[in-house]
Amino acid sequence: MPTLTIDNRQVTVSPGTKVIDAAEKLGIMIPRFCFHPALGSVGACRVCAVTILEGPIKGVQMSCMLDTMDDMVVSTTHTDAVDFRRDVIEWLMANHPHDCPVCDEGGHCLLQDMTVSGGHGIRKFPGTKRTYTDQYLGPLIQHEMNRCIQCYRCTRFYREITGYEDLGVMGIGARVYFGRFQDGTLESPFAGNLTDLCPTGVFTDKPSRYTGRRWDYERFPSVCLSCSLGCIIRLPAPGTGRSSGRKPATARRSTATLSAIGDAMGLPMHRPRTGRVGPLWMENRSPWRTRCPMRRCG
Ligand code: SF4
Ligand code: SF4
Ligand code: FES
Repeated sequence: MPTLTIDNRQVTVSPGTKVIDAAEKLGIMIPRFCFHPALGSVGACRVCAVTILEGPIKGVQMSCMLDTMDDMVVSTTHTDAVDFRRDVIEWLMANHPHDCPVCDEGGHCLLQDMTVSGGHGIRKFPGTKRTYTDQYLGPLIQHEMNRCIQCYRCTRFYREITGYEDLGVMGIGARVYFGRFQDGTLESPFAGNLTDLCPTGVFTDKPSRYTGRRWDYERFPSVCLSCSLGCIIRLPAPGTGRSSGRKPATARRSTATLSAIGDAMGLPMHRPRTGRVGPLWMENRSPWRTRCPMRRCG
């Protein structure tokens, strides 16, 4: 059981634990985009940098890729690590659109949080931003590829966890593209998770587009009625949040309510969660969907 020091506090963790998880055990949240507990590490985004002061490895390291070791001394606030993380955000923002006011991810966007907390406010790069053409991915998911930060969460989830192959990564270098080979509805019934999993606003909920912000809702525990599994869900109630009474909150329809069911960050992602899109998906896609009350005879 390795015992290490992170920001002057000691922690003992089980062998194989990554530094990012060990820090979280102490309540220290190291920034991350590509790392997700259910998906593991891939080392794509470089925003989880920490400085290793003592131990077998030293210097700036990616905390999601580094196994904890005995006598390791880690600093998450060392200037080298802080500068590194700030530079990574600056590179990412060099091509990122200034979409926050019209982006449905705004208010619960990891990139927005990291940009503000990292202190990046001014774009120094004077060049033209890289742009992409978006795809039609069906009636439930909106695609805005210009907001992508190449964290690979979407494709890892879609291909490795749901087992579907119609969404993938194409292109190379600075032109990678996350989408389908051609326009079309995403085939996986788990595709709704993408809108929660993507740390930016590339995949957002199409039925609820432009109808409300996250803080417009309060959430209540409930049970999904969309199939016989009876998953535990959280139902957002419009008009009860901070801006209750404002028209946009109450204008968000039941489709939006259904789309916001659950939270991929809180539920294990291998759960079916067809309830996320509820009857809309089941009615349109499933030939096995019961369409009227039935009773077993004999
Ligand atoms: S993805 Fe985040 S940072 Fe980018 S425009 Fe949307 S809210 Fe803003
Ligand atoms: S689309 Fe979203 S989840 Fe996929 S790589 Fe881009 S930012 Fe990450
Ligand atoms: S979270 Fe570690 S490299 Fe992305």
